[in-house]
Amino acid sequence: MPVDTQETDTEELDFMRAMARVPGPVVVTTTVDESGRRWGFTASSFVSLSLAPPLVTVSLGKKASTHAAFTVADHFMVNVLAEDQADVARRFATSGADRFAAGDTVPLERGLPGVPEAVVRLVCRMHDVVDGGDHSILVGRVLDCATAAGRAPLVYVDRGFARTAAPEGARAR
Ligand SMILES: Cc1cc2nc3c(=O)[nH]c(=O)nc-3n(C[C@H](O)[C@H](O)[C@H](O)COP(=O)(O)O)c2cc1C
Repeated sequence: MPVDTQETDTEELDFMRAMARVPGPVVVTTTVDESGRRWGFTASSFVSLSLAPPLVTVSLGKKASTHAAFTVADHFMVNVLAEDQADVARRFATSGADRFAAGDTVPLERGLPGVPEAVVRLVCRMHDVVDGGDHSILVGRVLDCATAAGRAPLVYVDRGFARTAAPEGARAR
């Protein structure tokens, strides 16, 4: 049967409700600008895009206070948070807070602000910034990867933080 191509106006609320049901990873994306100021935000929009070359994307709202800094950044770091790091996720999503004040983010690979206990850290060179509606899609070329053995990732679903149910044997080593 042919696809019905007629466009319907999906209610924004319906769309948000539907997307809330889709689990996503929780990452803190960081960068540092030329003056040495650190920037970071929590995101669940992190996606692996390409293997060769290794590319990832993180989408950042155009109204975010960090938008200007990230869209001109040469490099950024994606920190995939562990299941016991929901507090870090909340802090890096809090408007007006000094997100780096707690001191749990330190200069790591290539001097970028990193979360030492993250499940995975990816150092990225900015490959492209693509328009994505009310978000900008940061496309990163992965330069370095660090993986913490035995740490389980934090998940965001139904507007809350959750843990995966993977058996211990399935955890990355
Ligand atoms: C679990 C979680 C996931 C989020 N995912 C995104 C995301 O993918 N993209 C984004 O722009 N903001 C995301 N946010 C919101 C940002 O972390 C932040 O609150 C927003 O950019 C407003 O920050 P501002 O005060 O810097 O403007 C998320 C927040 C939470 C708690």
